[in-house]
Amino acid sequence: AMTPEEAAFQDRIDRGEKIEPKEWMPEGYRKTLIRQIGQHAHSEIVGQLPEGNWITRAPTLERKQILLAKVQDEAGHGLYLYSAAETLGVSRDELIDLLHAGKMKYSSIFNYPTLTWADMGAVGWLVDGAAIMNQVPLQRTSYGPYSRAMIRICKEESFHQRQGYDIMMKMAKGTPEQKAMAQDALNRFWFPSLMMFGPSDKDSVHSAQSMAWKIKMNTNDELRQKFVDQTVPQAEYLGLTVPDPELKWNEEKGGYDFSEPDWSEFFAVISGNGPCNEERLGARVKAWEDGAWVREGLMAHAAKQDARRAA
Ligand code: ACO
Repeated sequence: AMTPEEAAFQDRIDRGEKIEPKEWMPEGYRKTLIRQIGQHAHSEIVGQLPEGNWITRAPTLERKQILLAKVQDEAGHGLYLYSAAETLGVSRDELIDLLHAGKMKYSSIFNYPTLTWADMGAVGWLVDGAAIMNQVPLQRTSYGPYSRAMIRICKEESFHQRQGYDIMMKMAKGTPEQKAMAQDALNRFWFPSLMMFGPSDKDSVHSAQSMAWKIKMNTNDELRQKFVDQTVPQAEYLGLTVPDPELKWNEEKGGYDFSEPDWSEFFAVISGNGPCNEERLGARVKAWEDGAWVREGLMAHAAKQDARRAA
């Protein structure tokens, strides 16, 4: 049963009001937001790695500039989201410590390797496409700072998605070798992209409460279905084949039937045993340690200025 305070809070949510940082909220609401926003921030930061891997090998100067800008955008999204999480009473340092200790998650998708240039296309098209599908509804999420962060982030994500599709177009309409690379990238990224939406609804532990609080706006399976319905015609336009023999238009439901991803693979990846988990976390920890002298320098500078101001 709800306390009167909790009931009043739920009424505000049901009326569509935004909850702002200094206002009363149930501890569970605060914790769930810290978990989700923190995980989202970590995903943006770790998500720089698979693409950062290709900046030095981009095929043209223009492609390199675009990719560089995109990876910088992801860094910005991460910092923006850490700030949103900080309004809930947790510090960025605490969240980063938890990530580095393997105690907080980041999106499963970033534990897969990017093997060819076509993967830059597939990541932009499918991974950012899935990210937008999940984040557009989150613009209406109940927590004010998170919802406002999503508005800006979605604008940039849609540019990312377009640039990925543009790479796929070039590759798919290129030489037979280029088209084969594009198909191979689609083959490898299709099911991992479907996994980004989280486990199937029957296994999603948080969905019911998060939806009641409007922290989440849709179930995992709803968004996965929308993603498939939107993406299959895009694959057809490219002349590529979605690697799912069960994929079939279902007139009655007005959407595609498709195969479930391999959930045992998903659970292995989110518990730290995907193809690149160790490499990704290792790269983050190393970057943090390598940057220690910059943080120390900034702190020393700030202390000096404080002392001067006090004098
Ligand atoms: N990768 C890693 N972990 C996942 C994923 C995934 N793709 N999907 C679900 N999980 C985890 C959940 O965090 C939860 O674990 P926890 O209890 O230890 O935190 C567990 O699996 C059970 O799943 P759910 O109950 O369905 O979890 P939740 O309600 O949080 O839904 C979802 C997961 C849909 C990812 C939600 O958190 C969300 O919408 N997050 C915001 C968007 C986001 O983080 N995007 C990041 C990728 S996009 C990008 O950065 C480019």
